[in-house]
Amino acid sequence: MSRLEWRTVNPDGSRRVVVTKELPGDRWLEVLKAADCRVEICTSNDVLTTEEIKTAIGKSCHAAIGQLTEDWGDELFGALKSAGGTAYSNYAVGFNNIDLNAATKHGIPVGNTPGVLTETTAEMAVALTFAIARRTGEAERFMRAGNYHGWLPTLFVGELLKGKTVGIIGAGRIGSAYGKMMVEGHKMNLVYFDLYQNRELEDYISSYSQFLESQGEPAVTCQRAKTVEDLLKLADCVSIHTVLDDTTHHLINSERLSLMKKNALLVNTSRGPVIEEAALVKHCRDNPGFRAGLDVFEKEPNMAPGLAELDNVVIVPHIASATLWTRSGMATMAAGNVAGLLMGYPVWNKPEVLMFLENGAPKAAPSILNAKELKLSFHAE
Ligand SMILES: NC(=O)c1ccc[n+]([C@@H]2O[C@H](COP(=O)([O-])OP(=O)(O)OC[C@H]3O[C@@H](n4cnc5c(N)ncnc54)[C@H](O)[C@@H]3O)[C@@H](O)[C@H]2O)c1
Repeated sequence: MSRLEWRTVNPDGSRRVVVTKELPGDRWLEVLKAADCRVEICTSNDVLTTEEIKTAIGKSCHAAIGQLTEDWGDELFGALKSAGGTAYSNYAVGFNNIDLNAATKHGIPVGNTPGVLTETTAEMAVALTFAIARRTGEAERFMRAGNYHGWLPTLFVGELLKGKTVGIIGAGRIGSAYGKMMVEGHKMNLVYFDLYQNRELEDYISSYSQFLESQGEPAVTCQRAKTVEDLLKLADCVSIHTVLDDTTHHLINSERLSLMKKNALLVNTSRGPVIEEAALVKHCRDNPGFRAGLDVFEKEPNMAPGLAELDNVVIVPHIASATLWTRSGMATMAAGNVAGLLMGYPVWNKPEVLMFLENGAPKAAPSILNAKELKLSFHAE
């Protein structure tokens, strides 16, 4: 007997949609019901294997919503195609778990869920930044262990961020939101490294700096680093927000860590393999003043040996997008992708997508990654 449990919503729906995990909120189910879908949801917490997902897809399946923990490649897109499937959505903005070429080869459009994770994920990066700057993990463990015997001038001395330099690797949606939070909240100077210039971010910080000066406060600066090495040497605090692909795999390795300030802070809420985790463990062990805050890990759910023993590291279990608003918004967006495609709607082609969370959403699939390759039609205003 299968170790997995499933529940079915709207059993009389004519289009069968397989969802590999329970998702928060109700709106996403309403969206799928309105598209006449019978929704089969795996209610077990275990990560489904490719074989188990293939079994769930079975002989007839119109669409699927999957998770970043699953490997959606040739085998699964082939199985979905053979079962008559015409739509897939990832329940994530990142899509490094997906072989987009394979999906395109099988003619399956692939959706993701941008926009709804931006502020929530940036806020977690801020939380991790402060947790490591002010050593809240260590201090909490100390309190719980009953070690606090009175105030001391030297107890858990950390780093002040105000006026220092924050470095962002990957200044896209989340990186820019994080950068603005750190600059506006803590009057930091900003340096970013990205493949592209982010003129909007530069203009924003420049206007904010003028506002600060008008209030008699010191100006703040925003500059684009030519190389990741330049950024690492300059920044007091570095936060990673790139995609994970061949260009960013092990972007942070021992050589680059050695360029960072001895008391620098490093935060990663992007994807684990962007950091060579074993090198980070060694670096943190050799440099107790260096601190890292990690939401993601190279080989999730495992951690590199020694990481969990380090006091100068704060670790949380990939929860950067875990606010109810965001997680239910992601569900609505994923359902919107699948329902939109099944209904034959065109694809939305503007960055603003939050209207898909509301009543009266546009009749379009909100975010389809391979729409151009599949020559799908786009929504016209
Ligand atoms: N921890 C979480 O729960 C969580 C939540 C949301 C997103 N994420 C991750 O965050 C990533 C960023 O999300 P986003 O919405 O900001 O995406 P985005 O596409 O808006 O931004 C990514 C940025 O990375 C840049 N980039 C790509 N390759 C690069 C390279 N080699 N060097 C430097 N910059 C490079 C891109 O130009 C882009 O500006 C996602 O891909 C996802 O993997 C994680």
